[in-house]
Amino acid sequence: MNAKILVFSGSLRTGSYNTQLAKAAIKILSAEGAEVTEITLADYPLPILDADLLENDGAPENAVKLAQLFQVHDGLFIACPEYNSSIPPLLKNVLDWVSVTKSDGTHDLKPYAGLTVALGSASPGALGGIRGLYHVRSVLMNVGTQIITEQCSVANAGKSFAEDGMPSDERTLSLLKKTCRSLLERVTVGRGRV
Ligand SMILES: Cc1cc2nc3c(=O)[nH]c(=O)nc-3n(C[C@H](O)[C@H](O)[C@H](O)COP(=O)(O)O)c2cc1C
Repeated sequence: MNAKILVFSGSLRTGSYNTQLAKAAIKILSAEGAEVTEITLADYPLPILDADLLENDGAPENAVKLAQLFQVHDGLFIACPEYNSSIPPLLKNVLDWVSVTKSDGTHDLKPYAGLTVALGSASPGALGGIRGLYHVRSVLMNVGTQIITEQCSVANAGKSFAEDGMPSDERTLSLLKKTCRSLLERVTVGRGRV
């Protein structure tokens, strides 16, 4: 059974560098034999989480759909921008909404249990968004995922992707490969399909 990996970018921006990084990760994960699903969070719009909304209406349909996707995959690769040295609101809102889903109407949902996550970031800045990933890690730890140590940050992202879509810097490319391979070594294959 091949590992099923869900990949998405934490940015909706047209021409997003993180979406470019997500696509580069997909090439590597696919070449390593993973069964990859790519989604864009643009297809799962969610209101800002307000506990009154949750109390009155429960989790929105898109939060449940994302929770189901998390549940049926063995691992995630998230490429995420850094906003003011931290996690951007889009991703935080998604992770929070998914954390409060309980059921899809038929089955209990446990979207984060046993889920393994790898992280990347890209930024026009010299640090590549690496500071934000510590905050992303912290949230993902709190919701109960396993996060792999290796990660890949693409600095000067406007000029750091080659024509083939891969990071042009050899060290960065090698880190991205290492991160993807480590994810595939650590996922519990089949965890979401029992
Ligand atoms: C509100 C805001 C805060 C930002 N803060 C940072 C930051 O702390 N560090 C950084 O490297 N880039 C920062 N940026 C710049 C982003 O890295 C840049 O917009 C990048 O293109 C976002 O990723 P994307 O191309 O995937 O959308 C910030 C951008 C915005 C809009």
